Amino acid sequence: MLIAAGPASQELGRKLASITGRELCELEHKIFPDGESYIRFKTKLEDKELVIVQGTHPPQDRHIIQLMLLVDAAREEGASKIKLVIPYMAYARQDRKFLEGEAVSIDTILKTLKNLGTDEIYTVNIHSLPVVERSPIPIKNIDASGLLASYILQVGVDNPLVVSPGKKGELMAAEVANVLETDFATVTSRRDPVTGEVTVDIDANPRGRDVVFVDDIISTGGTAVKTVKKLRELGAARVIVTCVHGLFIGDADKKIIEAGAALILSTDTIPNDYATATIAGLLIPYIGL
Ligand code: R5P
Repeated sequence: MLIAAGPASQELGRKLASITGRELCELEHKIFPDGESYIRFKTKLEDKELVIVQGTHPPQDRHIIQLMLLVDAAREEGASKIKLVIPYMAYARQDRKFLEGEAVSIDTILKTLKNLGTDEIYTVNIHSLPVVERSPIPIKNIDASGLLASYILQVGVDNPLVVSPGKKGELMAAEVANVLETDFATVTSRRDPVTGEVTVDIDANPRGRDVVFVDDIISTGGTAVKTVKKLRELGAARVIVTCVHGLFIGDADKKIIEAGAALILSTDTIPNDYATATIAGLLIPYIGL
């Protein structure tokens, strides 16, 4: 089995190859002056099983096109089986028609990957679970909450309380709290119908405790900023902000620190300055590497 580290996830791809001792494909890629992507496999793929590692974080559309080129070229070159590791699955938020006539973007992407010859997909904390159920390609969705928790243990927390936004966050919070042997609470947000201002409520008292905020995605940082501010107002000792997918759009990270977070920690599904928790070891048994 060979591993191809796509342009979007070179470090993670290399890590997987180095941990497992599998051969890393020689892959040439570049961007033409007009912005188009170029992909060339230099390693022979005939009758070989191939694991392509390529996240679809921003710039999503470029990374998705590269992924399509990788799959198509691998099939053309005779790969016998193609497994995709897509650590962050873009477009999973457009998982249904919210308005008549809309494209269900994630379905379009999966149908295309299927037509190009993808056999299996491995992803991490996908935003929409129904997508996994109906995907034309078998998807293994891997939860990285336990991994985050093990890194939090290394950081060290005192009398921790775990908080996470929304109903969906409860599952992650419960898992992290279980590893930290503590309790968890839910963060709910409310939008004032008149002013439009969003306020958050936390169903626990964080006073004097180290609070671990856990979310699947931090995008603009809006949710994290409001929660950190509220926790600090309520007397939390330290607030550690963690997420699986750290998009950190614009200066989201700066805003989170300014709001009073002591630390930001994310996994390396998306390369970023806070990606200390690597998913490489978590993925290996699932992929069968
Ligand atoms: C919501 O469903 C997610 O779990 C995140 O809370 C949300 O996507 C975070 O977005 P932002 O960082 O822009 O507030």
